[in-house]
Amino acid sequence: MCGIVAYIGNRPVVDILTDGLRRLEYRGYDSAGVALVGKNSLRLLRSVGKVKNLVDKINKDWPDHASICGAGIAHTRWATHGAPVEKNAHPHTDEKKNFAVVHNGIIENYAPLRENLIKKGHVFTSETDTEVIPHLIEECFEGDFIKAVTAALKQLDGTFGITVISPLFPDTMIVARRGSPIVIGVCENEAIVASDVSAIIAYTKQVIYLNDNDIAVVKADSIDLRNIDNVPVSREISHINWDTGAAEKGGYEHFMLKEIFEQPQAVANTLRGRLDENDATAVLNGLNLTPREIASVSRITIAACGTSLNAGMLGDYLFEDLADLPTEYEQAAEFRYRNPIIQPGSLIIAISQSGETADTLAAVREAKNKGASVVAICNVVGSTIARESGAGIYLHAGPEIGVASTKAFSCQVAALLMMALKFGRARRLSRQEGLDIIHELKRLPELIQEVLKTSRHIEKVAKKYSRAENFFFIGRGYMYPAALEGALKLKEISYVHAEGYHAAELKHGPIALLEEKVPVLALANDIPGKDKIIGNIQECRARKSPVIAISTTGDGEIKNHANDVIEVPRASIFLTPVLSVIAMQLLSYYVAKERGCSIDQPRNLAKSVTVE
Ligand code: G6P
Repeated sequence: MCGIVAYIGNRPVVDILTDGLRRLEYRGYDSAGVALVGKNSLRLLRSVGKVKNLVDKINKDWPDHASICGAGIAHTRWATHGAPVEKNAHPHTDEKKNFAVVHNGIIENYAPLRENLIKKGHVFTSETDTEVIPHLIEECFEGDFIKAVTAALKQLDGTFGITVISPLFPDTMIVARRGSPIVIGVCENEAIVASDVSAIIAYTKQVIYLNDNDIAVVKADSIDLRNIDNVPVSREISHINWDTGAAEKGGYEHFMLKEIFEQPQAVANTLRGRLDENDATAVLNGLNLTPREIASVSRITIAACGTSLNAGMLGDYLFEDLADLPTEYEQAAEFRYRNPIIQPGSLIIAISQSGETADTLAAVREAKNKGASVVAICNVVGSTIARESGAGIYLHAGPEIGVASTKAFSCQVAALLMMALKFGRARRLSRQEGLDIIHELKRLPELIQEVLKTSRHIEKVAKKYSRAENFFFIGRGYMYPAALEGALKLKEISYVHAEGYHAAELKHGPIALLEEKVPVLALANDIPGKDKIIGNIQECRARKSPVIAISTTGDGEIKNHANDVIEVPRASIFLTPVLSVIAMQLLSYYVAKERGCSIDQPRNLAKSVTVE
């Protein structure tokens, strides 16, 4: 995910900025850049790849860099709009080079703004949404730096955390936020700004977190805060007591836990700008499919691996229920070795967080060779699967670092639901049905937050069962893929043997394994199929297996059947699996922690499996 570092003061600015960029490397990025201002001069360098490439370039092109003090901004970019190439790396400037900007977030209305600025004579050099910001500031500039930035920000829809410098005002940096975090480190006679405290705490532990629509005018000896309407605001100075290692993880003990807790934001990012209440559908321009092409799809195959496959299995249910489309899911590794039947009207959906998984990539190539339309649902922008598919949906979930996939799953399901909504609306769903799905999707971040609030209780349940060596996870219908994902999480990080099973299939074999030392996690949410799962719970209890039930908040009935209950909020059948999977992510995390496992890098596993 993109990272910002900015500095103003009397120390060599380049060292501080590049040191800050290195501390943000853990977030994942594909290019980096830096800009410095002196009186009437602006220097800018950008490069693709690691921060080291940028540092090599600085050493070569700016041999005097160690003696440059003053103001500078730097950025690590994780591509969203436009490929990871040098011209798209930040900082971006207007063509007069009066303003340089680093930006995190997404400007949703960049296309009309850009068109309008081009008409006024502005020349754009990148494919990014960000580049409209410096051009807009320049367009609004009549001699007052702050007024120009404020006027430009008022025209932006979407999210931003930005820092702006100008050679016309070399002693001033302007910092602003809406939706994307920005922190200002408070030091004596200098200030350091970053998108994340990990780039700051080597310099100071006193920080100011900006609120949405705050603008800070930062000089070496002052920080002046106001809101977008120019009304002065005051924000507390917070004291950070993390060490540098903890800061990268946002104060969480593991990346996995951080990523579990990031899910409300990650899902909000996947949904942002894509829900259209007027037409009661989803706006997914990256699919490159016209309504006529959507209507002519007659069959969908979803290919993926691991957690992405479990999300794909939910996609299977969604497309069948919402769009009446025959859909199948397939392990990507099988797809190319059987004889996949591709007919006119076949659409292949490849799902991959990393966009690099070898089997999924091979499935994409096989499908394309056979003439199928392929769309990809990926998180990493510019990844091979995204590029080769040529059409798709990016998750915008931010980098996932923990090997066990968590936030990608929730975002994949959100993306699949949007896609099924779009296909459904083009084929059979009424406007009201479309709106109901939109309204629920909009609530998803808040519903996830409710699940996360129960983490203490889930930790207690996890401790109680952490010594079990075998587990079953059972579910039916939409909760069957959720059961598979719950079991996968537990085995990946805690090394406990966990099997996900269809609740009805349990009695066709595995029930022979049940006994008091084998707990069963039953997905007993209050959705269609609940009565049947209660019957399956009884079958398990009769074999002395202790049962942990995941149920719907306020559904008192389940307590009579299960030994322990974890509640998740009431939601439709489409989103209940996501909420339950999040509860199971937490359960697995706490079991693994109790067992002293290496949570972020489990043995034998790789984040991205690029071999068959
Ligand atoms: C590896 C990871 C899993 C992931 C799977 C598919 O096995 O350990 O967490 O679900 O690959 O990865 P992808 O990047 O294609 O979603």
